[in-house]
Amino acid sequence: MQQCQPEQSEVLARMNTRQDELRQWVDGMAHQEPETDDDKLGRRKRWMSASRMALATGPGDIVEIGALAGESTVLFCGLAEQFGRKVLVVDPWLAPTHNVAGWEREAFLERTARWRENGVLEVYEQKSQELGVVEQLLGRDWAFALVDGSHKYADVLCDIMAVRNARIICADDMNMKGVRKAFYRALALLPGREAVTSEGSGRKWEAYIV
Ligand SMILES: C[S@@+](CC[C@H](N)C(=O)[O-])C[C@H]1O[C@@H](n2cnc3c(N)ncnc32)[C@H](O)[C@@H]1O
Repeated sequence: MQQCQPEQSEVLARMNTRQDELRQWVDGMAHQEPETDDDKLGRRKRWMSASRMALATGPGDIVEIGALAGESTVLFCGLAEQFGRKVLVVDPWLAPTHNVAGWEREAFLERTARWRENGVLEVYEQKSQELGVVEQLLGRDWAFALVDGSHKYADVLCDIMAVRNARIICADDMNMKGVRKAFYRALALLPGREAVTSEGSGRKWEAYIV
């Protein structure tokens, strides 16, 4: 698993990492040769590397919009726990949307029980575009945000803008037109931020706003 080594994180943390240094690091990470042919696993590994780096070098929690069965969530929770931070998941689990068949919510709850009980994980079982949710998202300090929920242009744009405080924002499924269009629209609305994409590294790809 390509990960930022703890020593590297510590050095960067001591340097009081600026956003441009973080961007440079994400760019290097995103362009490394994937260690696996498994496309989803490769993306997950990069998300974990990026979130570890964001946690190691600055304040804030992790937010995951769209969690499905919680396979990434448990990895985020493990990391957040190491750094004494929290994870927020927003997912309405409205089958049948985005390949949600109906069993995923139960699987998520089972898989994440430990972190829901110890307070590391908070879950909003709502659409991330609901006004109350957007207000909550806007009001918190995020180290890393994964935007992996609805693929509709307006929804993704709303999601990215709602988590714009995050030092690293990752949008998954950039192969989908609505996601890609929303990503670049949001980027245009966020002066001082830049895109890092791992396009070409796999069949599907993610992109980062740093
Ligand atoms: C691609 S899956 C997420 C995968 C997950 N991040 C992982 O790595 O395993 C998409 C998820 O987005 C959720 N979703 C769909 N519409 C949503 C919305 N409007 N707000 C939040 N989540 C939504 C679905 O219920 C589904 O669980």
